[in-house]
Amino acid sequence: MYSAKVLEHLENPRNVGEIENASAIGKSTNPVCGDMLQLYLRLRDGRIESAGFLVQGCPPSIAAGSVLTELVTGMSVEDAGRMAPRDITTALESLPRNKEHCSVLAIDALRDALKLTP
Ligand code: FES
Repeated sequence: MYSAKVLEHLENPRNVGEIENASAIGKSTNPVCGDMLQLYLRLRDGRIESAGFLVQGCPPSIAAGSVLTELVTGMSVEDAGRMAPRDITTALESLPRNKEHCSVLAIDALRDALKLTP
């Protein structure tokens, strides 16, 4: 039911935890399922130097947070601001239809960290 990529991120989630001296922190909550994700970014010269996350939620939300931190590390803030939930779903190969909103949770935390309005 989960893609190989989701399972791989569940077995070995990347960048779990707060990062020291974070320049930006974003939070998101899905009011329906109650999952919560916190994203920590360290920015330097317009780029995301490092990222970390904490999540309280379902397995795909863990995988979404994990792959998000991988994708944004090294990315310009401008490019990160253009990321969309489908980028998370694509990077995870696929998400079950009833878990597609977990990709939104990750992107909402990124947009909050970058203080972008949806
Ligand atoms: Fe809602 Fe995972 S079930 S974000």
